[in-house]
Amino acid sequence: MSEDKKVIFSGMQPSGLITLGNYLGALNNWTKLQDEYNCLYCVVDLHAITVRQDPAKLRKASRDVLIQYIAAGIDPEKSILYYQSHVPQHAELSWILNCYTYMGELGRMTQFKEKSQKHTDNINAGLFTYPVLMASDILLYQTDLVPVGEDQRQHLEITRDIAGRFNAVYGDVFKIPEAYIGKAGARVMALQEPSKKMSKSDENKNNTIALLDEPSVIMNKFKKAVTDSENEVRFSEDKPGVSNLLSIYCAVTGKTLQQAEAEFANCGYGSFKTSVGEAVVSKLEPFQKKVAELEKNKDYIEKVVKEGSEKASYLAAKTLRKVHKKIGFIPR
Ligand code: TYM
Repeated sequence: MSEDKKVIFSGMQPSGLITLGNYLGALNNWTKLQDEYNCLYCVVDLHAITVRQDPAKLRKASRDVLIQYIAAGIDPEKSILYYQSHVPQHAELSWILNCYTYMGELGRMTQFKEKSQKHTDNINAGLFTYPVLMASDILLYQTDLVPVGEDQRQHLEITRDIAGRFNAVYGDVFKIPEAYIGKAGARVMALQEPSKKMSKSDENKNNTIALLDEPSVIMNKFKKAVTDSENEVRFSEDKPGVSNLLSIYCAVTGKTLQQAEAEFANCGYGSFKTSVGEAVVSKLEPFQKKVAELEKNKDYIEKVVKEGSEKASYLAAKTLRKVHKKIGFIPR
């Protein structure tokens, strides 16, 4: 890693199929940042078990996520790719930072409130301390910038608070990270219920576009997407369905909202939805081909994660040594 470049860390949970929301909110931005920054992109499997996971499915999803990082354009020669559970320092720092985090601030986290309402039979301590593990992921690497979707903003804030609190006691141990939230695609909404975000774990599959959905499936889901009773393609708060489709179109094509509104000015909802579907399909076509190639190349993937976790461990150990020393643990 080059000393003079700033550091980026981000990750995705292997808790289902990666969606268009994950892609536009995060992955697509990650690829653009690789030359300018030292990047670490992690498959955060420790986070995924805060909700009960089937072991075989978790194993497959973890490999799939890693393959999709590479297929989307993350270059293992430039960026460090690895599984969180392969770098034990994440869990170690997390324990330490638990002792510098208050129950009150964790209780205010929107994601905790939502997930504990959804999984009433499994409100475990890990779900509660999830943001501390996330803070550890980020702070271990002296990260400058964290590219995420809008829904992670609150977790970035608590990360900054924990780091600042620790630094106030022990001096400058952690870099205080900033969130990097793109303009287009930072909050992709569910296609059938555009008042809620598109989510990997949604049971209604018509709400989500998985990156590996067949083109015909993608077209069908867009054709069924909820709009409204007007027939005007315009971005507006009172038109959540149409606005979501417009945002998706802009994020995928790189066009501005004004350009997109002008393009669809005299267009009915039917052909508007078809155009959005086609734009997404053509964006995902080369990605899907690359996934199919990589799936045949297990040795390569294994080599990437082995090297990635070695590099990540080396960097993480440096920060953890400093933390141990500051706290007063006896050196190993
Ligand atoms: P996760 O796995 O839910 O989502 C991965 C990334 O995708 C973004 N995202 C979205 N962006 C736009 N629209 C949507 N509908 C949408 N849904 C998800 C998320 O904001 C995220 O950037 N806690 C994190 C994983 C994590 C992490 C970290 C991220 C663990 N440690 C350290 C950054 C740094 C999460 O659950 O992401």
